[in-house]
Amino acid sequence: MSYLLGIDVGTTSTRALLVAVDGTVIASHATEYPLFTPRPNWAEQDPQDWWAAACESTRAALAKAGIDGREVAAVGLSGQMHGSVFLDESDRVIRRAILWCDQRTARQCESITEAVGERDVIAETLNPVLTGFTAPKIVWLRDEEPANYERVRKVLLPKDYVRLRLTGEYATEVSDASGTSLLNVPERRWSDVMLDRLEIPREWMPDVYESPEVSGAITAEAAAETGLSAGTPVVGGGGDQAAGAVGNGIVRSGLVSVSTGTSGVVFAHLDEPAMDQKLRTHTFCHAVPGKWHVMGVMLSAGGSLRWMRDTLCGAEVEVADNLGVDPYALMSEEAARAPVGSEGLIFLPYLTGERTPYPDPYARGVFFGLSLRHGKPHMIRAVLEGVAYGLCDSFEIIEAMGVEISEVRASGGGARSALWRQIQTDVTGHPHSTINVDEGPAYGAALLASVATGAFASVEEACAATIDVVERPEVDAMNHELYAGWHRLYQSLYAQLRGSFQIAAGLVEESRT
Ligand code: XUL
Repeated sequence: MSYLLGIDVGTTSTRALLVAVDGTVIASHATEYPLFTPRPNWAEQDPQDWWAAACESTRAALAKAGIDGREVAAVGLSGQMHGSVFLDESDRVIRRAILWCDQRTARQCESITEAVGERDVIAETLNPVLTGFTAPKIVWLRDEEPANYERVRKVLLPKDYVRLRLTGEYATEVSDASGTSLLNVPERRWSDVMLDRLEIPREWMPDVYESPEVSGAITAEAAAETGLSAGTPVVGGGGDQAAGAVGNGIVRSGLVSVSTGTSGVVFAHLDEPAMDQKLRTHTFCHAVPGKWHVMGVMLSAGGSLRWMRDTLCGAEVEVADNLGVDPYALMSEEAARAPVGSEGLIFLPYLTGERTPYPDPYARGVFFGLSLRHGKPHMIRAVLEGVAYGLCDSFEIIEAMGVEISEVRASGGGARSALWRQIQTDVTGHPHSTINVDEGPAYGAALLASVATGAFASVEEACAATIDVVERPEVDAMNHELYAGWHRLYQSLYAQLRGSFQIAAGLVEESRT
């Protein structure tokens, strides 16, 4: 029997997932690491932690399954997108990586757009330059840490740093590279226009592959550290969203996934590149060769609920600990006691700024409409509903682009709450189905690896053989109508508060100095 290994370099942990060639999940292990926030709005991690976690998780998954590394036929990688790993001439990490959720680069986004010209940025990358993306981080390093910038010889994305340690190769693939602002997304190659005008050396960028292509093989050194076998092929893999979409079977037109992890993403498959004229969503290459996708990204979806748990639900966490249950399950039960619309309490989930539909690093979370009547059940429900309104914003944009939506599949930690799935179903008017596997991006990475072994002829075939819908909720027509009113009010709040968010950011900055 041979197996596939998917390694997902996430923001909280790196997870190794062993899958049999028929798609059956065999074992997994996740190893956590810290996230550093040296300033508000900054988010950094140490790439060495990713590597140590990848080794530990791989060894532990093999041990749990009782599998020898030689039985692993191929490895696929996925990971948090947009992060910048700066390497010197000896492949030493120069500084901590700056992550996808870091918001420090507002000024660099403006200067890049000015230097390249907005029309050319859009024509080349199909997206605006956003604070979380990679190119502004490179320019930030040049502006703010010139001594570090001088030492840079390579810039890699998070999972591609782990690939370097596994294979010795500088390589990436089209889906993750799409989030750098340096890829020509329509043509699936580095953009000379972006690199030249930003004076970023072409040789700093790794080779670009399609996601199921082999990008290298496990070295003897990596074999000793991971328990894998030297020579095992490692495929391109995908950014966490594209790999996760493969893991959800979102590989043909009409299929859309909603994944609620820390971020909340509405992801639609595209046969041809298409974009929102107002640039509120991202159009990136898909992990399916020759295909694209459009996605709306909320920065704090599950992140908002985790914030609620950590700040206001200490009692629920304690009770859950004593009962041996998930605190989120208790929070869901409480939320179910509040009615649709939370009796006028609306939560804006912009705790770390926002991307879709408002690319705004200064936006912040808000509870609107608090009254003496409101208690914790309302507040928890308002968080669930606020995130659902934000996801619905992405649905509206994607539908207005003319993208067909015939089936929506829910995934990620948020999909485990039946209440949250029903709220999302009722708010958007699209049933959020569950599928037989919910193993996230690591599963998609393993399926991409399966294509390289020849077990399946294509990514589409691998998904068709392994992924099925198991439950499809009904839209409650009355709730859908009620939610439409609350959603409009939710949308009007950002418009009214936008300027205030900026003033607040200025005051916070002033009081820091
Ligand atoms: C996608 C994005 C997030 C991160 C972290 O554009 O920023 O999904 O990849 O999960």
